[in-house]
Amino acid sequence: MTTLLHVTASPRDDRSHSRRGGRLVVAQLGEAVGGLRVIERDLAATPLPHPDAGFVEASLMPDADRTAAHRAELALSETLIRELEAADAVLISTPVHNYTVPSALKAWIDLVVRPERTFRRTPMGKVGMLADRSVLVVSASGGNFDGAHAQTDFLMPYLRYVFATVGIHQVEGIRLQNTARGADSVAQAFERFRQELAARMLLVPLVA
Ligand SMILES: Cc1cc2nc3c(=O)[nH]c(=O)nc-3n(C[C@H](O)[C@H](O)[C@H](O)COP(=O)(O)O)c2cc1C
Repeated sequence: MTTLLHVTASPRDDRSHSRRGGRLVVAQLGEAVGGLRVIERDLAATPLPHPDAGFVEASLMPDADRTAAHRAELALSETLIRELEAADAVLISTPVHNYTVPSALKAWIDLVVRPERTFRRTPMGKVGMLADRSVLVVSASGGNFDGAHAQTDFLMPYLRYVFATVGIHQVEGIRLQNTARGADSVAQAFERFRQELAARMLLVPLVA
């Protein structure tokens, strides 16, 4: 059985373009891969906390020194990391908020990227502790990140860097752009998205 972790980050529900794009990827994958199990981690339905003092203290101390209270501070982080470890592939469906990830997704990252749990600190820098696997990022943006007057993309380079930190290097992206420019523009974005999805069979060859 193949397990997909699907992280959804838009605060919007049915009107969200990134959620709709993510559902298309899951459908494509479900058709191509028999017995697909999907772990849904919806960051709007169940918002995650920002790191607080208790979490930071428990996260940074040596494991041998941790009390039951410290472990309780890390329980949610453990759950999220185990979801990631259980996944053969990861799909992130996210809006672009101010050129990068929305704060809901940043909170997930802060709970998952943890010293001596998902990366090791070494004199040579951080070394990832998770097995590599493929990640696909479906991002929706009101404006454009390629073509004329493109915005600078701090989302994909950032996510690639973050996943590499924990040992995950196969990170690809597919965009839904110009969602704020009217219904025709949205229709065009989805047409392009469907074509790209069919052509590249994103995730499918990597989990099949
Ligand atoms: C707080 C906020 C910040 C945004 N920042 C950007 C941005 O930097 N660039 C952009 O192209 N669109 C930006 N947008 C527009 C969203 O990316 C766009 O509405 C997208 O479709 C949201 O994804 P969703 O439809 O899945 O919710 C922003 C929207 C919000 C609410």
